[in-house]
Amino acid sequence: IEKRVDDLLSRMTLEEKILQLNQYTMGRNNNVNNIGEEVKKVPAEIGSLIYYDTNPTLRNNVQKKAMEESRLGIPIIFGYDAIHGFRTVYPISLGQACSWNPELVEKACAVTAQEARMSGVDWTFSPMIDVARDPRWGRVAEGYGEDPYTNGVFAAASVRGYQGDDMSAEDRIAACLKHYIGYGASEAGRDYVYTEISRQTLWDTYLLPYEMGVKAGAATLMSSFNDIPGSANHYTMTEILKERWGHDGFIVSDWGAIEQLKNQGLAANKKEAAVYAFNAGLEMDMMSHAYDRHMKELVEEGKITMAQVDESVRRVLRVKFRLGLFERPYTPVTSEKERFFRPQSMDIAAQLAAESMVLLKNENQILPLTDKKKIAVVGPMAKNGWDLLGSWCGHGKDTDVVMLYNGMATEFVGKAELRYALGCRTQADNRKGFEEALEAARWSDVVVLCLGEMMTWSGENASRSSIALPQIQEELAKELKKVGKPIVLVLVNGRPLELNRLEPISDAILEIWQPGVNGALPMAGILSGRINPSGKLAMTFPYSNGQIPIYYNRRKSGRGHQGFYKDITSDPLYPFGHGLSYTEFKYGVVTLSASKVKRGEKLSAEVTVTNTGKRDGLETVHWFISDPYCSITRPVKELKYFEKQSIKAGETKIFRFDIDLERDLGFVDGNGKRFLEAGEYYIQVKDQKVKIELTD
Ligand code: BGC
Repeated sequence: IEKRVDDLLSRMTLEEKILQLNQYTMGRNNNVNNIGEEVKKVPAEIGSLIYYDTNPTLRNNVQKKAMEESRLGIPIIFGYDAIHGFRTVYPISLGQACSWNPELVEKACAVTAQEARMSGVDWTFSPMIDVARDPRWGRVAEGYGEDPYTNGVFAAASVRGYQGDDMSAEDRIAACLKHYIGYGASEAGRDYVYTEISRQTLWDTYLLPYEMGVKAGAATLMSSFNDIPGSANHYTMTEILKERWGHDGFIVSDWGAIEQLKNQGLAANKKEAAVYAFNAGLEMDMMSHAYDRHMKELVEEGKITMAQVDESVRRVLRVKFRLGLFERPYTPVTSEKERFFRPQSMDIAAQLAAESMVLLKNENQILPLTDKKKIAVVGPMAKNGWDLLGSWCGHGKDTDVVMLYNGMATEFVGKAELRYALGCRTQADNRKGFEEALEAARWSDVVVLCLGEMMTWSGENASRSSIALPQIQEELAKELKKVGKPIVLVLVNGRPLELNRLEPISDAILEIWQPGVNGALPMAGILSGRINPSGKLAMTFPYSNGQIPIYYNRRKSGRGHQGFYKDITSDPLYPFGHGLSYTEFKYGVVTLSASKVKRGEKLSAEVTVTNTGKRDGLETVHWFISDPYCSITRPVKELKYFEKQSIKAGETKIFRFDIDLERDLGFVDGNGKRFLEAGEYYIQVKDQKVKIELTD
């Protein structure tokens, strides 16, 4: 590949090179947040296009122009946002993280890759791995929660799923880690705004997932909108990514991010913005028209070097070669039936949805509903397709979605009678439907109340000042409670919610996120007891808005016994890692292979988990490390490893964590330099804390 890249490069004109560094759009732009200049004519030499269609023929026609009408016949790379599925839509990424099952996520991403590639897309702008701790920010739905390591594990899993071992295969695509970097730190949860990130926090919190994704082989990255500045940062894009981590693919800007350097007050005009971005190491311009319009002039004026242009083009071509685009520029034409909703893809969707769902509360074992004969299925999410898809749902359609009511009907056929009532809409202040809902509740043995957020309330440019559900939905719940029947609250949402008023009303709460096309039956299966829930939260549910930001791995306080809120609890309602099962898991004592270790030695920890209940189940063990005294203060604890295993009733399984002293006990400073200090550490599993002593 390197020889072919060099050969091609040696034959390219400056104009041809510059066009390789630009991405335009093609087809209908279905992202309302991205209103760019319409490109009337796509040059045959263009480097990349965002492809909004699912029709391979359209792609092939455009590609034909590139192959036959451009002088060198360099294929275009077609990109698209296939975030949690292309057409077979999976649960949102935040839900996927709660499955703690990277193998399953990898499989889902492989399905996305297959559907996308067969539809004419070579490259997805996914995974989104921005650590996020403010649930008001709508984009928390797109990532894997509040923990850096968790984001890193799922980043690697997605990269493997999208790219496979060889991304030139006809069912694989290139991945793109985004948004590099620190976009999740958006102040007050507002999108696109300033982010204040110290170098120490950059390394401790934001870089790790990217490092893990790059190690897993991610072909590309996307630079972020936020003012760190993400899209003009030499330190992050060149020194860290390329020089330190040795990444040899390319970075694409986020949509218009280069031009936005003007609004952020860095560059006075587009030309200046191009200099900042390009010299910082940003190879491809998505829709700013900064590189295509100004780069030639900038080379001539000596503001950017030819060597850097060559290096950037080399990176773009390298990825195109790795994708096999030169050998197979065209997409074989197939029917939608051949591509989408394959039985195996739908099975993965169901399994991932099931494992993403988190049983938050189950008072008096109201669930599973084994003996209820009359079930009222109520609420704005019960017969709703769109909102179950979530934001960035690719080419998903509401008609693809199995609605919650229908899932219930299939699951409980012959076992219970169902009655449906809307009750209220997601937010319109109209109580007209209440009476019908109350009537259904009076008739029923149990109310399954399906509340939640509209799909448009999370995702990009979808921040909310309050993470509570709209008052009308809370009122409906309150009125239903008065009927006196047990209430099972099923939540469909794209972020953690404020549930302190709904929690006392509900006998059980099942968080199903936005579960995608095939989440209804798994949800009903959990309610019926056919499926034992196993999801655990990857993001803290605050007690109330006022606690935001709240996350488990905060740094320590000088007065741990003081500094609490006067008006509310300082604890979250549901902490990171919370999630109930229908069985009980009893943890043995955590044992270490040695309690004292020296640098360079091996160390491992084990814990047995016994399923002491009557049902088979899946359990995830989270292994945390804490370092009580360190020359750079550490968080109260940090997740370093997790593992999920299935454990049959009565069975005992061993969970093992092979500790890498440098990686797991060590820490980095604000320059990314790694240290390992002698002293005491603790390994933590649930409420057990076991000491490790490290000596020189
Ligand atoms: C979003 C990106 C997305 C891009 C292309 C931007 O507005 O921030 O996440 O990949 O648009 O659609």
